[in-house]
Amino acid sequence: MKIKVIHGPNLNMLGIREVNIYGPMKLEDINKNMEVVAKQNGFEIEFYQSNHEGDIVDAIQECLNEGVDGIIINPAALTHTSISIRDALRAVKLPAVEVHLSNIAAREEFRHKSMISDVVAGTITGFGPFSYHLGLLAMMQILNEIKMAKEAQKAGN
Ligand code: DQA
Repeated sequence: MKIKVIHGPNLNMLGIREVNIYGPMKLEDINKNMEVVAKQNGFEIEFYQSNHEGDIVDAIQECLNEGVDGIIINPAALTHTSISIRDALRAVKLPAVEVHLSNIAAREEFRHKSMISDVVAGTITGFGPFSYHLGLLAMMQILNEIKMAKEAQKAGN
């Protein structure tokens, strides 16, 4: 089964950007750690980052042609504004987990609202790079449950 991880604007600057908030770890290292855990558990994983809203919408839509089973997404600042990312997630109907490094509920008021939190399976926020690890565990659990339900259906249970 295949998982796609989508990172929004400015997350390519992790390690340089507001280190007091987001920490010193680079995006490529976060991705590497996720890749190790996903592979250990028998999942394929791919990564995408863009600073452009429309490209992120395209990346979500393309999941349908790429055989992706689940999406882990940190839309970054677009979390708080993007109806098109919300609509794309609804359109593809794939299970999705929302991830944030910082605790968006404990920051400025404009970050309290997420446009996607009610269209994803759940949100993990505030654990730094470990949020991605927790997001991956959540997604693998969701996909394993879907797989088991399908197998049970096939077996006529
Ligand atoms: C973020 C939180 C957003 O409010 C912010 O704009 C980001 C990163 C996070 O991971 O904590 O760029 O999504």
